Amino acid sequence: MKVLITGGSGFIGSHIVDKLRERGVRVRIFDAMMPAFRQEENIEYYQGSILDFNALLFASCGVDAVMHLAAVADVKDVYDEPHYAEAINVRGVINVLESARRAGVKRVIYGSTTWVYSEADCDNVDETTPLHAPTHLYTATKLTGEYYCQSYSKLYGLETTILRYGIPYGPRARDGAVIPTFVRKALSGESITIAGDGSQFRKFIYVEDLAEGNVLALQSIAKNKIYNLDGKERITIKQVAETIRDLLGNIKIECAAARPGDFSGKNVSSELAKKELGWEPRITFKEGMRRYIDWYKEREQKRKLDWEKIDDVIKH
Ligand SMILES: NC(=O)c1ccc[n+]([C@@H]2O[C@H](COP(=O)([O-])OP(=O)(O)OC[C@H]3O[C@@H](n4cnc5c(N)ncnc54)[C@H](O)[C@@H]3O)[C@@H](O)[C@H]2O)c1
Repeated sequence: MKVLITGGSGFIGSHIVDKLRERGVRVRIFDAMMPAFRQEENIEYYQGSILDFNALLFASCGVDAVMHLAAVADVKDVYDEPHYAEAINVRGVINVLESARRAGVKRVIYGSTTWVYSEADCDNVDETTPLHAPTHLYTATKLTGEYYCQSYSKLYGLETTILRYGIPYGPRARDGAVIPTFVRKALSGESITIAGDGSQFRKFIYVEDLAEGNVLALQSIAKNKIYNLDGKERITIKQVAETIRDLLGNIKIECAAARPGDFSGKNVSSELAKKELGWEPRITFKEGMRRYIDWYKEREQKRKLDWEKIDDVIKH
């Protein structure tokens, strides 16, 4: 069994690589960036862009399944560069599906987002909730990817599974997101600023739990289905700041004016994934935060020590 992971060098993809390898599944990464988070040499890695159809086609040969995670994943980047983001997030998906079809791949698993529910009429949502046209371009690109998957299943019989991820956090997270920003500030002695009263909630999902959901979605029952993979606990932004304070000691928390239109969060049900895939989040928010902070500190320490050795390395 061999799985190709586009975006396998990234935050979520790199954890899926680990989970698959733990099960003895062979993995091939296709990514524009080198896999930076592991030292082992024996990772099969194809460097390239998902816009390069031929490169993707070669990478798709000889694999049983493709997990498609390569994307412009940061909503701010999509806002700043919509033309580029559309190319990667929309054309990129059809390139992945078409190469999978031509290479005879059995299943494509597509990493989508619970943001598709942002405009839903109700607060409690599941996979059957009717969706409305999205406001954010990021969501529009991700939804288009979902539609392409469904069209490929219907027209060509290519098995697809759509996974709508909640907001992931944990080791290897990109630095710009809210949790990494809070942790960086807390560790450097700056105060943490929360917008409004901090009562807006999210159901953060620990990244290893999310990666496990991706692996379980390879099961045959998941053929041509959609699953939400979201966290269990409703965590307010204020609780995020307080959890960091609990773990790191006395840090300063300040309140600023509420941001207009701040998404207050939907209550996304992941019951279907529990029932059909046997998936549910296992790591509590506090434990996940402890693991993230440990990883963050270790990374910063290593960077510092590496840089301190610069004269010894360069001197001749
Ligand atoms: N992080 C989140 O908050 C979140 C939430 C919901 C869904 N998602 C989705 O999950 C997927 C993975 O997100 P992530 O957080 O791991 O992002 P990430 O930015 O950490 O990883 C994305 C990877 O895609 C690669 N990539 C980007 N453009 C590429 C290209 N043209 N060709 C080949 N590789 C390219 C990057 O090098 C990177 O390794 C994305 O599809 C994203 O939309 C992310």
